[in-house]
Amino acid sequence: MKLLITGATGVVGKTLVQKLLDDGNEVHYLTTQSSKLDSIQGAKGFFWNPDLDQIDTACFHEVETIIHLAGATVAKRWTKKYKEQIYSSRIKPTQLLLKGLVEIKENLKVKHLISASAIGIYPSHPYRQVTENTLTTPHTFMEKVVCDWEKEVDQFNKEGIRVCKLRIGLVLSPKGGVLGTLKIPTKMGLGAAFGTGEQGQSWIHISDLVGIFKNAVEAQWEGVFNAVSPNPVSQNELISALAKSLKKPNFFPPIPSFLLRFILGEMSALVLDSHWVSAQKTINQGYQFQFPEIQKALHHLVSQSDK
Ligand SMILES: NC(=O)c1ccc[n+]([C@@H]2O[C@H](COP(=O)([O-])OP(=O)(O)OC[C@H]3O[C@@H](n4cnc5c(N)ncnc54)[C@H](OP(=O)(O)O)[C@@H]3O)[C@@H](O)[C@H]2O)c1
Repeated sequence: MKLLITGATGVVGKTLVQKLLDDGNEVHYLTTQSSKLDSIQGAKGFFWNPDLDQIDTACFHEVETIIHLAGATVAKRWTKKYKEQIYSSRIKPTQLLLKGLVEIKENLKVKHLISASAIGIYPSHPYRQVTENTLTTPHTFMEKVVCDWEKEVDQFNKEGIRVCKLRIGLVLSPKGGVLGTLKIPTKMGLGAAFGTGEQGQSWIHISDLVGIFKNAVEAQWEGVFNAVSPNPVSQNELISALAKSLKKPNFFPPIPSFLLRFILGEMSALVLDSHWVSAQKTINQGYQFQFPEIQKALHHLVSQSDK
C-alpha cells in the first residue's frame, strides 16, 4: 500500500514510518523543512508550507491512506505567540491537506485518513475514568486546540474519506520525548512528581502506538479511539517505576503545584492535569497490547535507549 505521512520526522513519525517501510509499504511524507526532504531512507519527501498555503500535490499520487501527525510540540514555553503556533500548526496543515486533495480530485485514490489527536481533549479529573464517549466541551486552551483540530479532521468525511482519530496519551519512546526529559533528573536521583503526584498518567509505549496505527491502517478503523495503555498510573507511580528501571533512588517529595503554576503558568497543566483514560474500545477493536504494564514498558525502553 502507498501511504502519505505528515509529521513523519517527529518522535512518533520516525518509528511509524520505519515500521511501515519494513512491512513493505511505500511511504510519501510531507515536511516543512526542505533540509529533511531526503532524510528518511526508503521514503519520498515532499515540501509543504501550511502558513503560506503551499503544498506539493504530487505527494498524493497513488496514495490510499494518509496518516496525519503534524503539529508543533507542546513542550515549549507557552508564550502568547507560541500558543498561537500550537493551535495553528494543527488547524492550518489539516485544512491544507484537504484543500490539496480537493484540487486533484479526479485522480484521488485516498480512502482513509488516520489522524493523531490527544487525550488533552478530555477534562482533567482527579479520579474519574474517561472514554471516547465522554462529553468534550472545551474549557482550557489544550481542550480547545484538540477539539478544533478534530473538527477540521472530520471535514474529510465530506469528501467520502473514512476518518479515524487516535487520541494519543503520553508517548514513552527511547528516542527523546517525555521520557528523555524525565530521565535527566531521575538519573541524578532527583526524580520527583508534580503537585500531589496522584494525577492520572495515561501513557503508551511507542511500539504499541505504532501497532495501533498499523492495525488502524490494515483494518480500516473509523471513528475515535484512545491510544493509551490499559493501565494508567499515578504520576508518583510513573516516577518510581522510572527510578526503578534506571536503578536510582526516588525519595524526593512532589514539587508543589503553586510553584509549578508560578514558574510555568498555564503550561503547568501539562504536568498537573489528571487523565484516567480507558483503552477498552481499542481492545474491543482487536488490538492486543505488547506493553500493558508500566514497569515492563520502562524496563524495555530504558534497555533500548542504552543501546
Ligand atoms: N508525543 C506525545 O506524547 C503525544 C501525545 C499526544 C498527542 N501527540 C500528537 O501526535 C503527533 C506526533 O507527535 P510527536 O511527538 O511525534 O511530535 P513531534 O516530535 O513534535 O513531531 C511533530 C512533527 O510535526 C511537524 N510540524 C511541526 N510544526 C509544524 C507546522 N507548523 N506545520 C506542519 N508540520 C509541522 C514537524 O515535521 P517537519 O519538521 O518535518 O515539518 C515535526 O516533526 C502530534 O500532532 C502530537 O500533538 C503526541
